[in-house]
This record gives sequence, structure tokens and C-alpha cells, in this order.
Amino acid sequence: MILGIETSCDETSAGIVDEDGKVLANVVATQVDVHARYGGIVPEVASRQHVIDIRPVVTAALREADTDWDGIDAIAVTHGPGLAGSLIVGLNLAKGLSAATGIPLVGVNHLEGHIYAAWASLEPGPESSPRSGAQFAGYGRQLLDGVLAAGKSLMCLLVSGGHTELVLMRGVNRFELIGQTRDDAAGEAFDKVARVLGLRYPGGPEIQRVADGVSETEPISRAWMRGTHDFSFSGIKTAVLNRARREGIYPKPTSGASEELIASLAKAFQDSVVDVLVTKTVAAAEEFGCGAIVVAGGVAANGPLRDAFHEKSPVPVVIPPISLCTDNGAMIAMAGVRRYASGAKDGWSLDVEPGLRIGAGVPE
Ligand code: KG4
Ligand code: ZN
Repeated sequence: MILGIETSCDETSAGIVDEDGKVLANVVATQVDVHARYGGIVPEVASRQHVIDIRPVVTAALREADTDWDGIDAIAVTHGPGLAGSLIVGLNLAKGLSAATGIPLVGVNHLEGHIYAAWASLEPGPESSPRSGAQFAGYGRQLLDGVLAAGKSLMCLLVSGGHTELVLMRGVNRFELIGQTRDDAAGEAFDKVARVLGLRYPGGPEIQRVADGVSETEPISRAWMRGTHDFSFSGIKTAVLNRARREGIYPKPTSGASEELIASLAKAFQDSVVDVLVTKTVAAAEEFGCGAIVVAGGVAANGPLRDAFHEKSPVPVVIPPISLCTDNGAMIAMAGVRRYASGAKDGWSLDVEPGLRIGAGVPE
């Protein structure tokens, strides 16, 4: 079994998976409520909260997986990218545990963790189609390993609060960055637009909630960044801001600002983001002859995005279960399994790398 520890942002989490990547435990202490009153993450507050939560979270994960330290083969830990003061809490605990128990330490790239979470997918189709978790146990693992074993690549869209990247995965641990956002990350745009609309932090789930059920909206333009695999979200954000100003929702909702107006703007924004993400990812998958698409990161929890991918992609789309889309320790353990199996082992010199990239160098 591999233990995964995650403290890169505002979730303190530990997960345990077996050699096949099956999730045996996933304990998440979220700091959402701590940061909500500031309207975003306060780094100093986040690292202090990690210090308080991390040890009980690891203990709870061991209990949930019904194991003790004898059952753990490696300790995987996020060492980047993320907030330096947050990353260091998880990394130092992992080093301490490794020193005390003699269990090997494996540093994991948080972004690779998000992608490997798709191997836990139980879902071969749209949210709306009937399915049963038990029936599809092992679905993601079998499909994705099958595509790679057949010599085909995967097109991975990584959409989180800090990242929006298109990553071509040519094999296990072989990532190549082919596109990225030029400005805001997709999740960041959801969070900022939510703030403009007077909705709570984190904005993604709130925008999805209020947009649900809205049928007609005045559309917002799409930023296609044609001829590239890149994305841009700041223009859409500004378009929402301008319309919100015009309609009297921003900077302060006037008494006339109706919930309908807010819902309609939320829907127009969500439609625009979903359309661009799905269209560009599907086109890139076709261009590179990929055998499947992986969608990962916090924004992959978005229902309309999940449904649109399943509807529009000619190749299978594999998305982690919603609970494994946002930051969690199980995904770090899943990436740790692959790193450990490839012989990776880190020493005490392993340090936090707040700006760590994915697939930006020459692929291994
Ligand atoms: O991956 P994640 O938990 O943290 C980072 O590594 O950044 O992603 C958090 C982001 C936030 O911006 C949040 O608003 C967004 O994911 N998010 C969503 C949804 N759930 C979370 N965005 C759109 N729709 C959702 N349902
Ligand atoms: Zn993340």
C-alpha cells in the first residue's frame, strides 16, 4: 500500500491505495470555511491550518484503510506546485514519518496526481445515464492502461484553481505540455466571476448551482486562441464584469438585481468556458490521434463540463469521481504508485517546488 499526503493549497489530505491503484482510504480536511470569509485563500492561514490538521488526517487514513505502518510500502507526498508554506507542512511530516519508520519517501508532482485520479473512474458515460459503481469497478484503470499498452496516447485536460493545461501523455509518467492558459486558470476564473456575482468561495460549485435550470441566456463570447492549444479566460471574466456593472449587480447588488439575472450571467459564463475547453481538447485529441481523453482537476467536478465531454468526444472520456477531482491524498498516492514502481525514491534533500511544472522539459 502507498500513503499519499497532500497539503499544496487549502485541503489537508491523506489517502491510501493498493498496488493496483485501488483507493482504500481518502481523508480530506477542507479549509473552505476558514478562507470563505476572506473570499479566497490566505496562504499564512492555510499553512497554520495544515499544521493543525495533518497528523489526525494521516491517522484517520490509516484507520480507514485498516492498516498500520507495516502495511505501507512508500510514503508519497506532494512537493509542488503549490503554496510554499503549505507544501512544506506535508513534506516535513512525510520526511519525519519516513525517517521514523524506514519507509521510502517518494515526491509527487501535484498535477500528475490530478491526472492519475482518472484511473479511479467508475463512470463510462454522462452523469445522466444510469450506472453502477460496482458494475464499473476498475473502469478507468482498465481503459487508460489499455490505451497506453496499445501504444496510443492520452489527451489530458487539467483544469484547477491554479492550472489550465493540455498535456499529452505518451506513456506511464511520460507527460508533454502542449497548451496552457495565457492568463487566469479556469478555476480561478470561476472563483473571480463568482465574486463579481456576489456568490460564495469557492466559486465553481456555486456558479454550477445557480446556473442549473437556466435555459436561455445572452451568450458571452468565446476566447478561441485559434492556431494554438492555449486558453485565455480573463477576457470572459471582464465580459461578465462589464455586463454585471451594466445590470447593476456589481460592485454592489442594487435592490433591483434579481437572482434570475445573476443565474443567467453565471450560465452564460459557464457555457462559454465549457464550450472552449471541450472543443479545443477534443480537437487536440484528434490531431494527436489519442485513444482517450482524461479531464482532471477541481473544475472537472463541473457537471455540465463532464456531460459535454461525454457527448462531444468521439473517443472515450475518463474523469475522476467528483470526490477525487478536487485536491486529495488518494490521487497523490495513485501517482506515487507509478513513481515507486518505476524505482523512484527521494532522499532528505527533496524540497518544495512551488513552481513545479508538468511535462515542460524533455519527456523521459
Ligand atoms: O484542484 P483544486 O481542488 O485545487 C487546485 O489545485 O487549484 O481546484 C479548485 C478549483 C476552484 O477554483 C473551484 O472553484 C473549482 O476547482 N471547482 C469547480 C467545481 N468544483 C470545484 N469549478 C467548476 N465547477 C465545479 N463544480
Ligand atoms: Zn489541485
